[in-house]
Amino acid sequence: MTKQLYRADNSIMQTFAAGSVDLIYMDPPFNSRAKHRIKPSRSPAEPALAFNDTWQWNEQAQSSWEQLQNHHSAALRYTLSYLRTVLGPSPDLAYLCTLAEQISWTHRLLRATGSIYLHCASNYSHYLRLVMEGVFGRGNFRNQIIWSYRTGGVSKRHFARKYDVILFFSKSQDYHFRLPRYRSYQKKRYGYNPRYPEHYDEEAKSYYHLSVCRDVWEDIPAIGTSNRERTGFPTQKPEALLERILEASSKPGQLVMDPFSGSGTTLVVAERLDRCWQGIDRSNAAIATTQRRLQEAGITNYDKVETGRNP
Ligand SMILES: C[S@@+](CC[C@H](N)C(=O)[O-])C[C@H]1O[C@@H](n2cnc3c(N)ncnc32)[C@H](O)[C@@H]1O
Repeated sequence: MTKQLYRADNSIMQTFAAGSVDLIYMDPPFNSRAKHRIKPSRSPAEPALAFNDTWQWNEQAQSSWEQLQNHHSAALRYTLSYLRTVLGPSPDLAYLCTLAEQISWTHRLLRATGSIYLHCASNYSHYLRLVMEGVFGRGNFRNQIIWSYRTGGVSKRHFARKYDVILFFSKSQDYHFRLPRYRSYQKKRYGYNPRYPEHYDEEAKSYYHLSVCRDVWEDIPAIGTSNRERTGFPTQKPEALLERILEASSKPGQLVMDPFSGSGTTLVVAERLDRCWQGIDRSNAAIATTQRRLQEAGITNYDKVETGRNP
């Protein structure tokens, strides 16, 4: 059973065996122009840096651009030329070229029956969908999932922006998928008749029925300040979100990879659902948080791989 946590840059994916992974969930930085800090304790000390989400058009971005000019997909090359025309050599283009390169690495790793979910911000999802179509092929687009949540912070100048986009692509037409169901409590609206007394939720004091998941997910709250899952790692995603993705697109025993594993949400969920897992993160704070979280969940039997010196 592969269970591996890499403290490394995810360019290490290029050294992994082709066709070895069944499901990839990737939640890269959102180009938020922020330095994200850990927020766990009430200590007056300056919170530690978790990761830097600022981008520049520099030598590294230029090198990603040049690598991508040799990509076998003409659609990806045209998309990137279009983006360069529209955005110019800018922080935005640096962000998109870096992600395009990382996405192209994931394609090689996936098994023919595998799938990938790219979690991104709504202000970049239209560009990233073109990049994903360039790498995975237009015919392999499955869903643009809207994950809508109710966090604080609103502007007076436009409607509150309260959703992320999750782009779901398969590697081929022959992919594994099992449609998940979720508990719906909207009994009056849909004329629900509690024929199944076992469908009673003690906590919510209400009957529910099992509804098929559509592509707009409004039933999974973001991690709030009092959430018991909260690790203090910024941008941490809820376990319920990963549970839905893993249950839909992987089977017990299969390998799930997260190349931006952050606080380790994908890894703890994979373990709970009997999947094998690989997580990669280059941030020391992310790896420390993940190790603590795995320990607390009683997960000690895994390989920790260290490469290079990272921020
Ligand atoms: C949005 S966070 C992931 C949050 C995660 N899904 C969770 O639930 O905690 C993005 C993570 O990507 C990591 N990261 C960014 N660029 C990376 C790279 N090139 N290689 C490895 N990790 C990277 C950051 O350190 C950060 O922890």
